[in-house]
Amino acid sequence: MFCLSADDLRKRIAGFGDGPACFNRELTERGGSAVSFDPIYQFTRGDIERRIEEVRVTVMEQTRLNKDNYVWTRIKNLNELENVRMSAMRRFLNDYDMSKTERRYVYHELPNRLPYEDGHFDIGLSSHFLLIYTSLGYDFHIAAMTEMLRVCRKYGCFR
Ligand SMILES: C[S@@+](CC[C@H](N)C(=O)[O-])C[C@H]1O[C@@H](n2cnc3c(N)ncnc32)[C@H](O)[C@@H]1O
Repeated sequence: MFCLSADDLRKRIAGFGDGPACFNRELTERGGSAVSFDPIYQFTRGDIERRIEEVRVTVMEQTRLNKDNYVWTRIKNLNELENVRMSAMRRFLNDYDMSKTERRYVYHELPNRLPYEDGHFDIGLSSHFLLIYTSLGYDFHIAAMTEMLRVCRKYGCFR
């Protein structure tokens, strides 16, 4: 999604609104460095796992209703999409407890100030977070991006 080069993947990367996704795990396995930030990291693995199961049917139903708005080339259909998503979430859950001492998943809610100095991260990323919660409003988005840009030298957003 972000067209990250091999060189990018060796840099210090921050993921904002990373949720139950497995980019952090995959990059760590490849020897890279990622810190993920999300309010859901205040919860235990069991809490997050239960919540994933609770919303699974609703999320897939919403996707089915909006399926004409997606490009079905790499992922061919809704079943495949569900399998890909669930497998990413399982990888995240397995990593979540293991990573506690490494502080790779940090409980944080934007636009609150992050505990890092200016330009600490080389690259900041966010996917399916900004511009999807329209109820958060304009001021939230400007403040959140300002804080992300403070701690990251470069920033990419995928909606
Ligand atoms: C749709 S999920 C996307 C998860 C992941 N980035 C992905 O692409 O699969 C949106 C995430 O944004 C997080 N989020 C919501 N409000 C936030 C905030 N104020 N600061 C940081 N993350 C937030 C949610 O907890 C959720 O995990």
